[in-house]
Amino acid sequence: MYSEAYSVAIMGIDGCIVRAEADVSDGLPGFSLVGYLAGEVREAKERVWIALKNSGFKFLPKKITVNLSPADIRKGGTSYDLSISVAVLSAFGYINPEDVLDCIFIGELSLDGRVKGVSGVLPMVYAAMKEGFKYVILSEDNQSEAEIVKGINVISITRLDEILDVVANKAEFVINRDSLNSLINPSFKNKEDFSDVSGQLIAKRAVEVAVSGMHNILMVGPPGSGKTMLAKRIPGIMPLPDFDEIMEISKIYSVSGLLSDSNPIINTRPFRAPHHTITQTALVGGGRFPKPGEISLANGGVLFLDELPEFTRQSIEVLRQPLEDGFVNVSRLGGSFKYPSRITLVGAMNPCPCGYYPDRKKCSCPQHTVNRYLSKVSRPMLDRIDICTETTLLNYDEINREEAESSEDIRKRVEKAHTIQKERYAKEDFSFNAHLNAKGIKKYCKLTKDAKALIKTIFESGTMSVRAHHKILKVARTVADMDEKDVIDATHVSEAVSYRSVDKKFWNQDFVN
Ligand SMILES: Nc1ncnc2c1ncn2[C@@H]1O[C@H](COP(=O)(O)OP(=O)(O)O)[C@@H](O)[C@H]1O
Ligand SMILES: [Mg+2]
Ligand SMILES: [Zn+2]
Repeated sequence: MYSEAYSVAIMGIDGCIVRAEADVSDGLPGFSLVGYLAGEVREAKERVWIALKNSGFKFLPKKITVNLSPADIRKGGTSYDLSISVAVLSAFGYINPEDVLDCIFIGELSLDGRVKGVSGVLPMVYAAMKEGFKYVILSEDNQSEAEIVKGINVISITRLDEILDVVANKAEFVINRDSLNSLINPSFKNKEDFSDVSGQLIAKRAVEVAVSGMHNILMVGPPGSGKTMLAKRIPGIMPLPDFDEIMEISKIYSVSGLLSDSNPIINTRPFRAPHHTITQTALVGGGRFPKPGEISLANGGVLFLDELPEFTRQSIEVLRQPLEDGFVNVSRLGGSFKYPSRITLVGAMNPCPCGYYPDRKKCSCPQHTVNRYLSKVSRPMLDRIDICTETTLLNYDEINREEAESSEDIRKRVEKAHTIQKERYAKEDFSFNAHLNAKGIKKYCKLTKDAKALIKTIFESGTMSVRAHHKILKVARTVADMDEKDVIDATHVSEAVSYRSVDKKFWNQDFVN
């Protein structure tokens, strides 16, 4: 007899329906599992068979063949165990085949018949809902994550022997969820606030400009001047994520196995700060068993590279394409997929090995050592950073000044600037000033006469490349948006130029390659 049961494969961060087809016939007794399987799925055969027997099911000696379809998707992971066993039970007449056609089964089996949780449940259930399935039946371990998805009934089980009762009486087992909506609301974990940061008015302003136009930013300054402190507070001044963003971020965490029962959804913007010893694969993702990297885990938020020159040149270079594209492309045998990587890159570094250059009272690093240190950040990388700012050691007055502005106040201004840009770029395939290309700059960065004259003077002094010119215009566009001005004036330009002067101060073209 032939029967089937459905499950979901993960392609990148999206689910794709997989059908387990079981056929039972007379012939040499045995169990074969086919359909473009990764090693761990081939082993499912043994797991499923033993789990079925240990759950008390008895089978006549028959030839059993299970095929996982479609054939062009390579099936990895252990999440198909439950659907395979349901297909087999159905083929042997334990289950009415009709009962399972509107169900998706997700779960790994242990040898004693327990149903265990898997990663990637959120995109799996989301895909099931989109495809019109009415029920998802999965391990209790994954229940909270599945409940996030509206429009599909969730049923959780703990042991395989419960399955007969569950599929025959689905409606009775559906989990009632009323108290869930609060989880989906965006939140802003108020632990770390901008008001904690004293002084650093210039760096704070630079950070606000960066976030307002989604520009990447680099902070240079001595140890203990608050670079890390500032960086950690950046997600909190970004607009709260909307529902689609929460879903996208959470899907990435789901396939990475980073959601849990107590934390079934990510409703804040991420902050990721990988150590400089991180491998390239861990940074951008991919690998033999593809997983999102840090740049994707930071999607919608901040990727913070602290001590930027300590990162290997290769690892910085592999970030370039994903930074440009907003996604990481992972090529596989049998198809490729994308992990989103729309991030704000925040870099921080000391200007020299001791950290106090150019303060020659404190820094005695030889100039060539300073140069070598700075040159670890390559020109192509610097080109992707629109804003460069300096943090300075606080003086006594600054430490004791009254409380600074809160993250919430800053966020309100940022939201305004974002709204202006989203409206302006409604018909474009980008939404923020940072993503303007040369054509876009021409179209959207209109300058007053004074502003034009200022840029011309700087350009003609020979200290500005074409690239630098573009960066200045993009940042000036952002500063003008923060000022709610349509046309960029000279003050906006000079502020934008100031974010280049730091970069010029440390990296003169001579030694950066
Ligand atoms: N501007 C500041 N306002 C308040 N505290 C600060 C400031 N800068 C530094 N600190 C204190 O010094 C500590 C070290 O700062 P940190 O951000 O790690 O510096 P950096 O990353 O530049 O080396 C912080 O945890 C904080 O307690
Ligand atoms: Mg630091
Ligand atoms: Zn030094």
